[in-house]
Amino acid sequence: MKDNYKVGIIGATGMVGQRFITLLHDHPWYTIEVLAASPRSAGKTYKDAVGAKWAMKEEIPAGVADMVVMDATGDVEKIASMVDFVFCAVDMKKDEIKALEERYAKAECPVVSNNSAHRHTLDVPMIIPEINPQHIEIIPAQRKRLGTKRGFVAVKSNCSLQSYLPAMAVINQKYPIDHALVTTYQAISGAGKTFETWQEMVDNLIPYIGGEEMKSEVEPNKILGKIEGGEIVPSTELQIECQTYRVPVSDGHTAAIFFSFKDGVNKPSVGEIENMWRSFKGVPQELNLPHAPKQFIHVYTESENPDQPQIKTAREIDGGMAISCGRLRESTQYDYKMVSMSHNTLRGAAGGAVLLAELLTAKGYMD
Ligand SMILES: NC(=O)c1ccc[n+]([C@@H]2O[C@H](COP(=O)([O-])OP(=O)(O)OC[C@H]3O[C@@H](n4cnc5c(N)ncnc54)[C@H](OP(=O)(O)O)[C@@H]3O)[C@@H](O)[C@H]2O)c1
Repeated sequence: MKDNYKVGIIGATGMVGQRFITLLHDHPWYTIEVLAASPRSAGKTYKDAVGAKWAMKEEIPAGVADMVVMDATGDVEKIASMVDFVFCAVDMKKDEIKALEERYAKAECPVVSNNSAHRHTLDVPMIIPEINPQHIEIIPAQRKRLGTKRGFVAVKSNCSLQSYLPAMAVINQKYPIDHALVTTYQAISGAGKTFETWQEMVDNLIPYIGGEEMKSEVEPNKILGKIEGGEIVPSTELQIECQTYRVPVSDGHTAAIFFSFKDGVNKPSVGEIENMWRSFKGVPQELNLPHAPKQFIHVYTESENPDQPQIKTAREIDGGMAISCGRLRESTQYDYKMVSMSHNTLRGAAGGAVLLAELLTAKGYMD
């Protein structure tokens, strides 16, 4: 590992891009070298380009406000030559994002992406660092396909499933789960919005988020999949059915989950599941990565805290990088039911991508 890595943020003026700035401006390993966005922003200082769209609680960091924004699509080769790798979170058509991310990779610039475009590309790892860190081992196969020495694309999963899949995956390692019914209650920042920019969401609930249910049903299979023959082969073991809601919450996605174990599995007790969550440590915790939460899964018991996890008390735990679970109890139709939540733009988006970059850096993929 080097002492310091220069990074670029592609989509720096967006909601996720702003989060990247707050997480990276004082990062121990990384220096923000490039900010890039659409041609509309290119050539402006960051503070002028982002203007009233700045939605973070803190001010724009001093060293960032006067940086001149580059053109994310027009300056690919130049940006690639200035940085060690880029984070990418842009609002463009899927095929355009796919092509853009591969252009950076082919310019020998690794891409850590928040976008969904490459989530189903078979040699692109889609990683929750605590759950499937071993999938980074697909990168040599991807580099071979792209014809690169350094460049590759790695992605994080959809934000909503990071609120519940970790809790299920930890149980699933020992007690295989067969099927689950999930309902997600998703914050408006997940759509890149605030209450100022989305007045319709004040005192409202919308029972539809385009494309989101499919992501919750399909992406877990890739995360739980195995590398075989230069591809990640999705698991076919766990069937999830999902209903999503947009709710009047600024940040934080919550999920209600009903799940049943495979036939023949000796059903663990509530206490045993809660202990598995409490004692779980993943590779990020073992490597002590800068953005790894000390305690990945926080547990609220039904007997002591039946009204938790709540958005306002749980979303900022461990810098917004922890998952919080509660209300685990027996179900009449399934084996168990529970509630789980995480911060959607921290753990679910920029923070999850920064943790993925840290894992890739610690494992030598950014050198
Ligand atoms: N918000 C979340 O919680 C969340 C969670 C997970 C994943 N994501 C994903 O992350 C991505 C960004 O989401 P967001 O919420 O941050 O979106 P956003 O707030 O709408 O920001 C979009 C960014 O993309 C840039 N952009 C738009 N058109 C472009 C073009 N033609 N060329 C280059 N850059 C362009 C914008 O630059 P200008 O300002 O110059 O227009 C802006 O920087 C999306 O793919 C989204 O699905 C979001």
